Amino acid sequence: MNGLLLKLARRLPPEPVLVTGASGRIGRRLLEVLSAAGCKVYAMSRDEEAGFPSGVQLRTGDLTRAESLPGTLEGVGLVFHLASYAPSPEDPDPENSPAHQAVTVSGTRNLLEKAREAGVASLVFTSSTRTIDGSDSSYAQAKKTAEKLVLTVSKDMKTTVLRLPPVYGFARQGSIAQMLAA
Ligand SMILES: NC(=O)c1ccc[n+]([C@@H]2O[C@H](COP(=O)([O-])OP(=O)(O)OC[C@H]3O[C@@H](n4cnc5c(N)ncnc54)[C@H](OP(=O)(O)O)[C@@H]3O)[C@@H](O)[C@H]2O)c1
Repeated sequence: MNGLLLKLARRLPPEPVLVTGASGRIGRRLLEVLSAAGCKVYAMSRDEEAGFPSGVQLRTGDLTRAESLPGTLEGVGLVFHLASYAPSPEDPDPENSPAHQAVTVSGTRNLLEKAREAGVASLVFTSSTRTIDGSDSSYAQAKKTAEKLVLTVSKDMKTTVLRLPPVYGFARQGSIAQMLAA
């Protein structure tokens, strides 16, 4: 495990941390780091059967259903908001799916509103460099809109936007996947 990440995670405030998109590729790695650092971690998933490392507690919730969120956010101090439309391999055009609007825009709006009501102190949102590379895909547009929502939510909540470069590539179809395959 990356020692620097562990060191940073140990500096987090003691309140419980919620990770949305915890079952995703980046989410699972983040859970490992937070757990190893001794954080109290809640993993959000729509799947009631989702399995997570021991010590990590599952909290079910669906960003597109605001009524499912208050229980998910109860007692949480910090949210790492990673959830994003996770396309099936059959989706012919995952970057332009209407699901980006539903999950990333409406879902982030729902999450922010319920997080504010629950008294969440801080939220970190994973956006993408797609917001600044000239792309006008639904994914890029949804991330741009969600960034604005996150950065203007409320003075009581400290928010941060991370624009990640390709980590695993989008929908396992990007250049990173092609390089790995090669
Ligand atoms: N991977 C990359 O290279 C890359 C690059 C730049 C930015 N990012 C951003 O980083 C974040 C994490 O990426 P990733 O590749 O780890 O994502 P991922 O593997 O596609 O996982 C996304 C997760 O979002 C959750 N999700 C989808 N719809 C949801 C909904 N309606 N309500 C609640 N949760 C929902 C799913 O969890 P459940 O099915 O368990 O509910 C899924 O595991 C994303 O926001 C992505 O846009 C990724």
